[in-house]
Amino acid sequence: MTAINAVTELTTQGDIGILTLNSPPVNALSANVRDGIYEGIKAAVADPAIRAIVLICEGRTFIAGADISEFGGAQKGASLFEAQSMIEDSPKPVIAAIHGTALGGGLEVALTCHYRIAVPSARCGLPEVNLGLLPGAGGTQRLPRIVGAQRALEMVTSGQHVPAEECHRMGLVDEMAKEGNLKADAIAFAEKIVGEHRPLKKVRDLNDKVEADRKHPEIFADFRKANARKFRGFKAPEYNIQCVEAAVNLPFDEGMQVERKLFMELLTGPQSAAQRYAFFAERLANKIPDVPDDTPVRKIAKVGIIGAGTMGGGIAMNFLNAGIPVTIVEVQQEALDRGLKVVRGNYERSAKNGRFTMDEVDKRMGLLSPALSQDALADCDLVIEAVFERMDVKKEIFTNLDRICKPGAILATNTSALNIDEIGDVTSRPQDVIGLHFFSPANVMRLLEIVRTAKTAPDVIATSMKLAKTIGKVAVLVGVAPGFVGNRMLFQRGREAQKLLMEGAMPWDVDRVLYDFGFPMGPFAMSDLAGLDIGWVKETSKGETIRDQLCELDRRGQKTGAGYYDYDENRNAKPSPVTEKIVKDFVAKSGANPRAISDEEILERTLYAMVNEGAKILEEKKAIRASDIDVVWLNGYGWPIYRGGPMHWADSIGLDKVLAKLKEFEATMGDVWTPSPLLEKLVAEGKGFKDLK
Ligand code: 3HC
Repeated sequence: MTAINAVTELTTQGDIGILTLNSPPVNALSANVRDGIYEGIKAAVADPAIRAIVLICEGRTFIAGADISEFGGAQKGASLFEAQSMIEDSPKPVIAAIHGTALGGGLEVALTCHYRIAVPSARCGLPEVNLGLLPGAGGTQRLPRIVGAQRALEMVTSGQHVPAEECHRMGLVDEMAKEGNLKADAIAFAEKIVGEHRPLKKVRDLNDKVEADRKHPEIFADFRKANARKFRGFKAPEYNIQCVEAAVNLPFDEGMQVERKLFMELLTGPQSAAQRYAFFAERLANKIPDVPDDTPVRKIAKVGIIGAGTMGGGIAMNFLNAGIPVTIVEVQQEALDRGLKVVRGNYERSAKNGRFTMDEVDKRMGLLSPALSQDALADCDLVIEAVFERMDVKKEIFTNLDRICKPGAILATNTSALNIDEIGDVTSRPQDVIGLHFFSPANVMRLLEIVRTAKTAPDVIATSMKLAKTIGKVAVLVGVAPGFVGNRMLFQRGREAQKLLMEGAMPWDVDRVLYDFGFPMGPFAMSDLAGLDIGWVKETSKGETIRDQLCELDRRGQKTGAGYYDYDENRNAKPSPVTEKIVKDFVAKSGANPRAISDEEILERTLYAMVNEGAKILEEKKAIRASDIDVVWLNGYGWPIYRGGPMHWADSIGLDKVLAKLKEFEATMGDVWTPSPLLEKLVAEGKGFKDLK
């Protein structure tokens, strides 16, 4: 055994050299790993006893990519290209042995190997696009040479992790290993290659696929057209496409130059900076200073849900999808039946779309037990209450749960507004009470706000955070405050959007600015989608707001074919003369003089109000860190990821500029614009939200 460096060793078995990388957690291509590959292959090539080399990784995965945390810093040690050339130019065959994930630079290293073997559970992909990048180590040039332009385009612009069996079918993986037997199978494969005198297969020299694609230049135009909506606002997908186009149309080395140039442009641009920030922000959100990683967690083998409405049903699906049995409780048989029917309908739709089989639908529904009494929740490890927002009702439920549930059960509420401290205090076990705020549709939206009360126990928090991961949610821990983090900031945006109408803007003006900023839709289109009548009561409505008047005209949003906008039969929105008149009448009645409002003002009014509220949330310690607020907005409210979230965005503008604007607004519009003292302090110290510890 030869230790090449701290993370790499070279061993031999017979005439096969085994170069093993061991750099936890994910064998990312840090300087040590690059050096280890470079020096290790060099040593194996120099050793006359070695006839082929297996490149394999210890730990949970093959190389998961470049070390993202090194981006932007000065490079140390061998470059990735040098390490790759050492492999590709090796006179002895190099075989990549893949388990876990071969991602980004990891797959690009594997693509310079002469052969690839993988276990069935492995997955390969080029996910750089999700970091606002493109594969910058030859991935865009080598991948199309194996899988063709169409599949390469799909892979590099989606970043999908492709299962090993599928990679095998596409030729990306040459040989399948038995699960759990990778090393032995890779060595046997290497011996076979040596025994059969197979050639050194260099992907860079494969040309038949790209030559065939060259005759179909329409592939690229068609792909751009088909995905225009999905790629809107993002720079990286288009650059990825240009690289694949170069792979098809140019000789390998020229294609590599195109890749390098476009990669560097993305790497040094603001979109990738924001997307890399978001990657780490999402992972940082799991770290809770007063709940260490080794906090014991409670076992959650059975979940109870109270309420089989849209929210309760959606929440239940998360657990059923993860194979966790759910008991769902309603008061009336009819409501229970309706709830179950909706859940089944959702699953059947997925099955029809080919997401899974009809058997799977039955399997998931088989885990769902309906009940008409909360007594059925006695043996649940976690109960989530998802009924309508009335404190007296919730208090009654929690009093009951306290009596019914077994000791140690976690009692959660899905409230988005009410004080959970108060709810916890009606039980004899407030330490077991927590908020689990799902976002609608709860089976789709990735965000979960986990709300701790003053008394929630650390292991209840740790269990909830872990459970979120199990059900595929992105969790952010927040404190009790009206609207918690997300809705509290949304309220500020909504307030300014409404005020802008009273000053001369139309709903579609506000929406257009926010849509162009990168949101999937603006606040008024969002209200139309959600239904304008949420919280509106016909009997007591007095036409006092624009919303009231729209609802009174039965313009209750998309579902009635009209709201702020008019909708055609395909739900396409059109500015509405009816709404325009209502808005104008309101403005006239208020005595205000409507004025032309610039796009810049619309953006600043709606988004700076959120930034200021975010600063107040931090000041009140209702969020642990600024990046947690960004994670909430990126995953729950459609903030464009290439702008990093409201707090990152404010930092990128410069907090001094934001503060100056807030003060200007405060002077003309009063107290709601008073800057948060934290913002003032950061500006005085020349700092940003990113500098907060
Ligand atoms: N660089 C640096 N750190 C990384 C990393 C990377 N490429 N990938 C993961 N990590 C870190 C995470 O930050 C996390 O650190 P923490 O424990 O301190 O929070 C730790 O590794 C474990 O990561 P996850 O919590 O995400 O673990 P999972 O098991 O859930 O997922 C994974 C593993 C699928 C590998 C996931 O981490 C992932 O998708 N990583 C990013 C993969 C990627 O984007 N690769 C491309 C990089 S860019 C590139 O290669 C450029 C090249 O073309 C030149």
